[in-house]
Amino acid sequence: MIKLPGLIDIHTHLRTPGQEQKEDFYTGTQAALAGGFTTILDMPNNQQPITTLDRLENKIKLAEQDIICDVGFHFGSLGDNLLEFQNVQEMVFGLKLYLNPTTGNFLINEEKLKSIYEAWTGNQPIILHCEGETLPMALEVIRQTKKPTHIAHVSSAEELSIIISAKEEGLPITCGVTPHHLFLTDIDGQKLGAYGYMKPYLKTQEDQDFLWKNLDSIDIIESDHAPHTKKEKGSDNPPFGVPGLETTLPLLLTAMSQGKLAIADITRLMFTNPKRIFNIPTDEDTFVEVDETEEYAIDNKNLFTKCGWSPFNGWRVQGKIKTVFIRGIKVFEDGKVLSKKGSGKIIFPRP
Ligand code: NCD
Ligand code: ZN
Repeated sequence: MIKLPGLIDIHTHLRTPGQEQKEDFYTGTQAALAGGFTTILDMPNNQQPITTLDRLENKIKLAEQDIICDVGFHFGSLGDNLLEFQNVQEMVFGLKLYLNPTTGNFLINEEKLKSIYEAWTGNQPIILHCEGETLPMALEVIRQTKKPTHIAHVSSAEELSIIISAKEEGLPITCGVTPHHLFLTDIDGQKLGAYGYMKPYLKTQEDQDFLWKNLDSIDIIESDHAPHTKKEKGSDNPPFGVPGLETTLPLLLTAMSQGKLAIADITRLMFTNPKRIFNIPTDEDTFVEVDETEEYAIDNKNLFTKCGWSPFNGWRVQGKIKTVFIRGIKVFEDGKVLSKKGSGKIIFPRP
């Protein structure tokens, strides 16, 4: 058995309020525990984006009733809520901005980006969805404003190379990659159809190899857990996003058994760095025990996520999550969630 600190996922879409057919705070946090995550940060791209204090407070109230692990929040902006920033800066772990189109209507342009960067005066990082050609534009704004920025879900060799150079230049940036970009390629995408659609898209084997080869330049593995129902995925216009909370750690433990990374990398990418970069409160008696030798197949019918599917369905993995403890209390054991709805804690950044 290996003992790991309770893992942190800084990039989760739990869908309440408004899209509870996809996920809710109870099913989403059950999925978190089943995947070894004891702390997750929820994204603001809800049906009504979380861009006001009112909406944030409402979301927190709803979460309190349902969550079973530690949950914190990110704030959103379309550039029209700059005065609201000062009211939420101490309540949220980051400000999430979208520079490329994806699920929800969140897109901002360069001019808006600049005014948002100037208005965000808190200590917490700005998180950017900026793929392809929007990355150099964003780096220019970071160069001018020097604001700590986390580049989410880096997926291509080109993007990661640009980020490595920008870090060498001294820009205050960190970056994350998702499990799907580490374990799936465009070839898998062809077989998966809509179940392999996400933003950023799956890339080539060469891109994936580059990510693995440069793991030391990556700061965080973030699940980008983005559940959509089978019905939505089966429609003519399927939404982007795949679930990831329950499969990320087993996939990484499998990669560890193949010598692709060490346990210290898993701890760094999913605990130490997320904790440091996002000022996340943690507890020594919050931990996960895994049997690194146990093999099993990922199976849609064993998932806690409400969407009920995974792009990794059928994959054989090595490394099973056995127990999860939060502040000394056993909350998950052998495939069963033990804690009561609403027993989780809302968290805020450490001062
Ligand atoms: C996300 C979603 O469904 O909310 N989808 C995705 O493909 N990653 C939106 C996002 O964060 O891009
Ligand atoms: Zn996302």
